[in-house]
Amino acid sequence: MKILVTGGTGFIGSHTCVELIESGYEVVIIDNLYNSSADVIDKIEKITGVRPVFYEADIRDADALDRIFTAHDIEAVIHFAGLKAVGESVEKPLLYYEWNIGGTVTLLQQMQKHGCKNIVFSSSATVYGAPKSVPITEDFPLSTTNPYGSTKLMIENILQDVHVSDPYFCAILLRYFNPIGAHPSYLLGEKPNGIPNNLMPRIICAAKGETEGITVFGTDYDTKDGTGVRDYIHVVDLAKGHIKALQKINTGKVHIYNLGTGVGYSVFELVDTFNKVNGTNVKKIICDRRPGDIAECYANPQKALDEIGWKAQLGIEEMCKSSWEFAKHQD
Ligand code: NAD
Ligand code: WQD
Repeated sequence: MKILVTGGTGFIGSHTCVELIESGYEVVIIDNLYNSSADVIDKIEKITGVRPVFYEADIRDADALDRIFTAHDIEAVIHFAGLKAVGESVEKPLLYYEWNIGGTVTLLQQMQKHGCKNIVFSSSATVYGAPKSVPITEDFPLSTTNPYGSTKLMIENILQDVHVSDPYFCAILLRYFNPIGAHPSYLLGEKPNGIPNNLMPRIICAAKGETEGITVFGTDYDTKDGTGVRDYIHVVDLAKGHIKALQKINTGKVHIYNLGTGVGYSVFELVDTFNKVNGTNVKKIICDRRPGDIAECYANPQKALDEIGWKAQLGIEEMCKSSWEFAKHQD
């Protein structure tokens, strides 16, 4: 079965391509390399022994997509391609609407033209806004606090609407929590462009000595130690969730799953675990809260277990270790 992976050379996409190939799927990738590089294809080949078909193209390019769907009999699309920096989305909302919404609409038009009726979409826990309680289940109210989050929620709504217009159209919305970690080969991992915003890439910068330490955004939250609590999930577990989700394609329904571990770790806990397992000495620098942050966010992942048999297997120590090993292998 052939799967088109948009954004397949990116962080989560590349790990998912490995899992797809190892599960026997044929993989076709489209990526414009805005936030990744072509050598990821070599690395996927090195890990799996199979070289995926790769098109360097933009999903907003209808002709490029048309050619891909004409050349390949695509059964399902796994749609990762998009921009993902929350702060940048506040500064450049139109860029985010153009790339994320415009790109998805063009993709869906080409899927429709070529009779492809299955999509797995990378949504995010950001669609829960500031949740009223934790753990979060899929039926919690949805809202957003920034343009990036709005694009995720709008795309979820677009996919629901397309399903209403065509009962054979199937969408699987995967709401990721906080992905970190790297492939055990240390060939694939997260390589953010420029100065990173997320906690783990910033811990890595500090561990490399590029920054003085990690800025802890707030120690006065109503949490176990006053710092923000998140559901960190190993990217390999997340990638495996996509393979499990493919069981639900061709069901003509919209399915929604949280992909998280169900366990929340604080900023202090993550930094301390990172230092312990890696023998590093990342310093904690206490700062004010970051505007827009919430105190706690973690999943109830039971629905994914019940309906697709998916459960995260890898713990926080493995996430910290593989993140650092991958970073060291880049030098
Ligand atoms: P990433 O930036 O590493 O990967 C995205 C890939 O898409 C990149 O390789 C980029 O070059 C490509 N791309 C972007 N716009 C494109 C376009 N118009 N045409 C073709 N290719 C394009 O990001 P990631 O962390 O792997 O995230 C993948 C998806 O998961 C994104 O949609 C993101 O919003 C979502 N997500 C990520 C997180 C996270 O914390 N990493 C959390 C929740 C959801
Ligand atoms: C985690 C915790 C910070 C940096 C974001 C997006 C979300 C999703 C994942 C895509 C928080 C604290 C951080 C630092 C810190 N992406 N922190 N010092 O904010 O949970 O989620 O990425 O969908 O949409 O909003 O992740 O890694 O930025 O922060 O103390 O230098 O670490 O306050 O508590 P977040 P994060």
